[in-house]
Amino acid sequence: MAESSQGPGGTAPLLAVRGVSKAFPGIQALAGVDFTVQRGQIHTLLGQNGAGKSTLIKVITGVYRPDAGEIRLNGIPIAPPSPLAAQELGISTVYQEVNLVPSLSVAENVLLGREPTRCGCIRWRELNRQAVAALARLDLRLDVTLPLGDYPIAVQQLVAIARALSVAAQVLVLDEPTSSLDEAEVRQLFAVMRRLRADGMGIVFISHFLHQVYEISDRFTVLRNGRLVGDYDPAALPRLELIAALLGCDTSAAGALTNAGPRAPATNVPRPFLRVQGFGRRGAVAPLDLEIRAGEVLGLAGLLGSGRTETAKMLFGVTPADRGSAEVEGRPCSLRSPAEAIAAGLGFCPEDRKTEGLIPNLSVRANIILALQASRGWFHRLSRARQEEIAQHYVKALNIATPDLDRPVRALSGGNQQKVVLGRWLAAQRQLLILDEPTRGIDVGAKAEIEKEIAALCDQGMAILFISSELDEVVRCAQRVAVLRDRHKIGELVGDDIDLAGIVAMIAAPEPRPPEAAHA
Ligand SMILES: Nc1ncnc2c1ncn2[C@@H]1O[C@H](COP(=O)(O)OP(=O)(O)OP(=O)(O)O)[C@@H](O)[C@H]1O
Ligand SMILES: [Mg+2]
Repeated sequence: MAESSQGPGGTAPLLAVRGVSKAFPGIQALAGVDFTVQRGQIHTLLGQNGAGKSTLIKVITGVYRPDAGEIRLNGIPIAPPSPLAAQELGISTVYQEVNLVPSLSVAENVLLGREPTRCGCIRWRELNRQAVAALARLDLRLDVTLPLGDYPIAVQQLVAIARALSVAAQVLVLDEPTSSLDEAEVRQLFAVMRRLRADGMGIVFISHFLHQVYEISDRFTVLRNGRLVGDYDPAALPRLELIAALLGCDTSAAGALTNAGPRAPATNVPRPFLRVQGFGRRGAVAPLDLEIRAGEVLGLAGLLGSGRTETAKMLFGVTPADRGSAEVEGRPCSLRSPAEAIAAGLGFCPEDRKTEGLIPNLSVRANIILALQASRGWFHRLSRARQEEIAQHYVKALNIATPDLDRPVRALSGGNQQKVVLGRWLAAQRQLLILDEPTRGIDVGAKAEIEKEIAALCDQGMAILFISSELDEVVRCAQRVAVLRDRHKIGELVGDDIDLAGIVAMIAAPEPRPPEAAHA
């Protein structure tokens, strides 16, 4: 029986999860997990890809029923049968997979299922007004009558958050809300989170960006392999100890993992694999020169909107160049379409795994061998044994958490799905591989594995164009870095000159000109 002292404002915690377990075929996703969120607290859930974070969220919010354990809200046991029921209890959630409807308007998405009606008809003006007000909380000003799908992924993510905020909630759950947001958007979101915390709301936050979690969290809970590792005060937990807890190793191993030095410059590279000169596209990328050599990682650095993805898409012929020239292995090649780029030996792993065509119902194995099989042609089928071998290699190399290769990819955690996409392109045996934000949503441990795999492929002669918002990752992986700003290439750093401070200085230099010109 609930006692009066345990009501809102009483002594019971806002949300208390006790001994919760949940199994899927072949996987114990959660095993006896405890988790407590207080009012006015931002409580961050941490763990490697597949640790059970999203599953815990889904158990709390009525997507899954737990096999064992208990959840209490303000001291009162709850068992919401659906996310809508959880929302009615005051638990509002933004899931890792944004599940909005791209073809509906922004306003309809914000108020989906809660549209204002009169006599059974939707009151459109009122709907639009309420949506505008909900978006204003995030300082977002959009045309709410346009289809949601017309806006970039980052904006869609913010709309999902606005939707969650538009209901009066006691608990707000945000599962990796910042993975596609830029720095300014993260600032806005954090400001809103702090405001809600001050109003007494309990916020459950999930992110793999350790600098963000240290900035915003009042409390950490770490999961590993579905088990609770511990509940920590961030101020008393140094970063290396956190990484050690996440990975289940000691701090010296954690340090070794995260402190790999920059790569040695590539040797034995007689001439560039790809060379473009004055290559540009009106309105997208100012004409630029680039060379990428076999066996080399060229990093592309710059802020969001600096033209990194546009450059990648231009090189791959998705939005082809309309000026300049390109050569592949010394021979002219226009790169006017993806088909032409593929024929020339290029491959492209784009930043958004959903539109990119991860096929959810196909097995991990089929998803990994897809690009390789496609490039061989369907008449030259890889043997079953070869498929197994390739898929097994990448499952091991990238540490993909799956009970077996035949598992449908949809049953994997978000970060493990991302690893499958990356594995597909690493397996595709391209001579030049363009990787756009390949480690988004991937945990610290797996990032180190991915860097190793990239280095191994380069040693075998592959050329890689590597795009990442995390500059320290670019510094570790690349032997050369081209820096972009405002859709112009503003400079290049090579070998020992590549360091974080150098890239940041270039990006932040006052003039949108090469550094030599700025000094003149
Ligand atoms: N619907 C499902 N069917 C089968 N297995 C599942 C399902 N959902 C999750 N799993 C498995 O449960 C485990 C935990 O997954 P979960 O999504 O909770 O991880 P996570 O900590 O959120 O990881 P990430 O950081 O990659 O998002 C994983 O091994 C995953 O493959
Ligand atoms: Mg998850």
